[in-house]
This record gives sequence, C-alpha cells and structure tokens, in this order.
Amino acid sequence: MSTTTSGLAGRTALVTGSTSGLGAGIAVALAEAGAHVVVTGRTRTRGEAVVAAIESKGGHAVYIPVDFAAGPDAIGDLAASASKASGGHVDILVNNVATLLQPTATADVTAERIAAAFAVSVTAPFLLTGLLAPEMARRGEGAIVNIGSISGIIGAAGSALYGATKASVHMLTKAWAAEYGPDGVRVNAVAPGPIATERNQEFADGIAPILARVPSHRMSTVDEVSAAVVFLAGPQAGNIHGAILTVDGGATTV
Ligand SMILES: NC(=O)c1ccc[n+]([C@@H]2O[C@H](COP(=O)([O-])OP(=O)(O)OC[C@H]3O[C@@H](n4cnc5c(N)ncnc54)[C@H](OP(=O)(O)O)[C@@H]3O)[C@@H](O)[C@H]2O)c1
Repeated sequence: MSTTTSGLAGRTALVTGSTSGLGAGIAVALAEAGAHVVVTGRTRTRGEAVVAAIESKGGHAVYIPVDFAAGPDAIGDLAASASKASGGHVDILVNNVATLLQPTATADVTAERIAAAFAVSVTAPFLLTGLLAPEMARRGEGAIVNIGSISGIIGAAGSALYGATKASVHMLTKAWAAEYGPDGVRVNAVAPGPIATERNQEFADGIAPILARVPSHRMSTVDEVSAAVVFLAGPQAGNIHGAILTVDGGATTV
C-alpha cells in the first residue's frame, strides 16, 4: 500500500461497524490511505477477515469486538481498547454503525424497537464521541466522520424511525463541529443514498423504483462512499467543518 501520497500515514482510525458492508470498505480505504485501523463489530470471523484483507495489502489493522447494544460499559471498554491499540490515542473516528431497518408503518413500530434503534445508531456514536473527542481536542487535532443517510434528509413513508436516527446523526455532526471545531477537531458527515453492498443485493427490487428517480440511475459503490470518508478525514478537507456530504447520485437534488 502506498503511504506517501495519502496524508493519513501515521494516523490511527477507529471505524465502528466495520466487519462488513460500508464499514469494511471504509476500513480498507483508510488503511490504503496509510492509517492504522481498528476494525469493530460483533462478529469475530468477519472482523478478522477484514484485518487479513488489509494486512494482505501491506496495511495495518486490529480487530476489537464490541456489541453497541450492550450499553455504556461496552462502549467505554471499546474506547479504552481502541486508544491503547492505537498507541494512546485515536486520530480519526468514523461513526458508521447503525441499525438498518426495512420500511415499516409507524403504527407497527414498538417502543422497544425505537429504543433499540436509537441505542445503536445514536446513543453509541454519541457516547463514543464523548469518550474520544476530548483527547483529540486536547491534542489540537482530529477528525470525526459520521455516516448519515439521505433518509435523514428526505421523508419517506415507512422510514420514520430510520430517518429519525439518521437526522439525529446529521445534527450531532453540526453540534460537534461547533463544540470541537475550535479545538482543531473537524466533524463532518457523509450521507449516502443506496449503496451496492452485498446485503442490498437482496433488496434490489425495492430499491429499483428509488433509483429510477435518481439522476445517476444507480446505487453508489462502497468505494465511492469510502472515498468521501477518506477525503473528509484527511488534510485536503482541512477547513471543512460540519458538512453533510451527500453521495447519492443526486437523489436529494431533484
Ligand atoms: N446500505 C445502504 O444502502 C446505506 C445507505 C445510506 C446509509 N447507510 C449507512 O451506512 C452505514 C453502514 O451500512 P451498511 O449497509 O454497511 O450496514 P450493514 O451491512 O448492516 O453493516 C453494519 C455493520 O455494523 C455492525 N453492527 C451492527 N449492529 C451492531 C452492534 N449492535 N454492535 C456492534 N456492531 C454492530 C455489523 O457487524 P456485526 O454484525 O459483526 O456486529 C456491520 O459491520 C450505516 O450507518 C447506514 O445507516 C447505508
């Protein structure tokens, strides 16, 4: 892997939910850009496979298991372990983990489901950022990239709960930019439209009508979304704070 042109050589990055899907792609892309990456998720076999993929290309990564639904102690343990595995501090935090939800009528959404979705998609990144951002601020540098969604920007029937979690992630991005930006920590978000993950191949029929209205007429690739994350995490985005960068083929523009 080249570490000379990327700008992330010598940086450490924690990517939540990186045992599969977009998070795995972001972990690989950050490693290709030179960062030492902490891969997280519940499934050890998949996490170790992502680490092996990174190491096979000459990159550096470690897997640390976590279940974000387990509450604040588990999140505290992850923050401590990730900092230790990163030589004392995490430079880049990518809050990617979320509970993906199939369209559901609001009347059919239970209180338990709302609590569970917010616990993983909002409370977990909130607490993790609260644990890691102050050290970034103390050091006077750091980057946080939150993964939002176009579902947090445009309303869609059946996506009230998922959309609410993603709109929350967008607002956290702006609030944290205001809170930590003055101390040199840049906080931004990437808001993807549908991504061609393995999992989304199952839902291709449901996604097709959405894509018909999108200017590009296609899903984004994992690589395209990951590239936006690497850009926002790196020095070329040096004066970008609080941005919500859509990677959606123009879905939110028309
Ligand atoms: N896919 C899309 O089309 C799309 C579009 C817009 C935005 N997004 C956003 O992109 C992000 C990634 O989506 P994705 O499609 O890649 O999702 P995904 O394939 O379902 O991957 C989710 C990741 O999170 C981990 N995870 C889930 N629950 C967890 C928990 N309780 N504790 C720890 N880890 C957990 C999973 O690993 P384990 O199972 O090993 O725990 C996995 O690595 C999300 O923020 C999503 O909202 C996705």
